[in-house]
Amino acid sequence: MKRSLLSIEDLARADIERILDRAESFAEVSGRAIKKVPALRGRTVLNLFYEASTRTSSSFELAAKRLSADTVSVRAQGSAVDKGESLKDTVQTLSAYDPALVVIRSPWAGAAELVARWTPAGVVNAGDGKREHPTQALLDLYTLWRRVGRLDGLKVWIVGDVLHSRVARSNILAFARMGCEVTVAGPPTLIPREIESLGCRVRSSLDELGEADVIYALRMQRERMEEAFVPSLREYAERYQIDARRLQPHQILMHPGPVNRGVELSAQVIDSPQALISQQVESGVVVRMAVLYELLASGEEEEGVAASATTAAAARARDADGAVAERLPDGSEHPIEVAPGEHLAAPAGPRP
Ligand code: MLT
Repeated sequence: MKRSLLSIEDLARADIERILDRAESFAEVSGRAIKKVPALRGRTVLNLFYEASTRTSSSFELAAKRLSADTVSVRAQGSAVDKGESLKDTVQTLSAYDPALVVIRSPWAGAAELVARWTPAGVVNAGDGKREHPTQALLDLYTLWRRVGRLDGLKVWIVGDVLHSRVARSNILAFARMGCEVTVAGPPTLIPREIESLGCRVRSSLDELGEADVIYALRMQRERMEEAFVPSLREYAERYQIDARRLQPHQILMHPGPVNRGVELSAQVIDSPQALISQQVESGVVVRMAVLYELLASGEEEEGVAASATTAAAARARDADGAVAERLPDGSEHPIEVAPGEHLAAPAGPRP
């Protein structure tokens, strides 16, 4: 895997499978009383958020902290960006902290690529304008794989405002790469031309929605609309809202959040057992831990330098008194507190 993650196109199917496996082993870490491993100790992760974010920014920060990295989080509001500093100047200024990785969220498509040119650090695209949001797609794959046990052959319908959605673009690529059959559906004004080239088919009505195994609803992204794309939200909801009438018992419902209740989803389906919306949020931390780990530590692991979470089971050793320790990169052992009854070995989950 490359040292940056800018687009799902950077990832082969095997890379995605490795990230999902890795996330599964970090799920075991997240179940411990002390949810921390030393994999990125001494490394700095810079979170640069130029656009509103709750889930993505908090989960990246938590993911880095659970891997023991030092984190610096900068939001455009209240920073020197407010005073007119350019993205390039900000990145170059913060490079003085010698970050190993820069996580960037920006309203400008292509910003993550630019940042990757301006810093020697690895870069993760945490959403660039309408273009891509690769870690959202990875956490969606992980959430779905955990629920269903496979991805190959699933029929996924992505419904709503595809035009303004970076999540849609990353998810079409990711679902298709993992063998899903992807359909996008929505008003023709909200479906970009030639979207089929990403590996999906297009529908302008929900007449065939019953065939879907998974309905992935998108938010109406009004903040990115410069004109009226639908006659009214009421009419939109009438034709495209996923409600109890449209969601069938065999179908799974996903949404990247934040949800416009009563617009793309009815209140009833949000709270239904078929909805994986809160599981998606939960997956955000372990999947982002897996991405940070893959970019910063997995090469070292192959060279036998770093201790990792997935090799933690092997690296852990019981000393004569039965205390549990984790071996650090320098060969020293670091005691870990394990609550009674907690599992130590990473579960060997099935591959997607
Ligand atoms: C995003 O940042 O793109 C979100 O996760 C999805 C949305 O804003 O609707």
